[in-house]
Amino acid sequence: MSKFTVSKLAALKAKGEKFGTITAYDATFSKLFDECGVPALLIGDSLGMVVQGHSSTVPVTIEEMVYHTKCVARGATTTSLIIADMPFCTYATPEQTLRNAALLMQAGAGCVKFEGGEWLCDTVRLLTENGIPVCAHLGLTPQSFNVFGGYKIQGRTEDNAKYITDSTLALEEAGAGMEVLECVPAKLAADISKKTRMPIIGIGAGSGTDGQILVMHDAFGFFGRPPKFARNFLKECGTGDVRDAVKLYLDEVKNGSFPSQAESFE
Ligand code: KIV
Repeated sequence: MSKFTVSKLAALKAKGEKFGTITAYDATFSKLFDECGVPALLIGDSLGMVVQGHSSTVPVTIEEMVYHTKCVARGATTTSLIIADMPFCTYATPEQTLRNAALLMQAGAGCVKFEGGEWLCDTVRLLTENGIPVCAHLGLTPQSFNVFGGYKIQGRTEDNAKYITDSTLALEEAGAGMEVLECVPAKLAADISKKTRMPIIGIGAGSGTDGQILVMHDAFGFFGRPPKFARNFLKECGTGDVRDAVKLYLDEVKNGSFPSQAESFE
């Protein structure tokens, strides 16, 4: 199987084929996920919590993201597209953005992700013009939890739902190749997915998106109390083998049985 790219993920969307993706932070798990055929791996700045033990993603630095991207890239050599997060306040100016995104690409990423709305359209244009594919991230954007006043479901008011929808369309128009949509009502996420050509990858966004993403620690029950939208696939597969858990996750996303209504927000 050849490596997935941003355009191959868009082709899956065009065919109506749903796909699962997962976070990875090291070479052992990324190799295993790659061998299971996971289309894309995200080196999420969630590593601040699940790897480093911080209480948020804010302390994560670009040097740490580069280190983990290199580890993941050494493991995932055959199948998975590698997406790397631009951490907190590393994409505030054009010079800073280009320098930091280049570091992640040189570390082995095939795409970079950052959090925010239509104010990032120039940033998307700058990166794509320089050969760097972009994944947007809207809805609950954890780097802004201090502004939101906590980790709250987004898109529940008409104004906020419109902001998320308009921002998605503007970011796609600017050149974003895909988008993570986090913790929004299922109907809003499904509506947005229908309006775009780029794949929308949901987390806590219901089953109407084109793809799903889970933090690997949530998918295997490795990290404290799991969020409502996660499922412990390691427990559910019944064999205790992480490979079986990953295959079950990919199958249940593909056939639409994950996430269920109870794992979504209305
Ligand atoms: O940092 C991360 O792991 C993420 C996912 C929750 C989408 O952004």
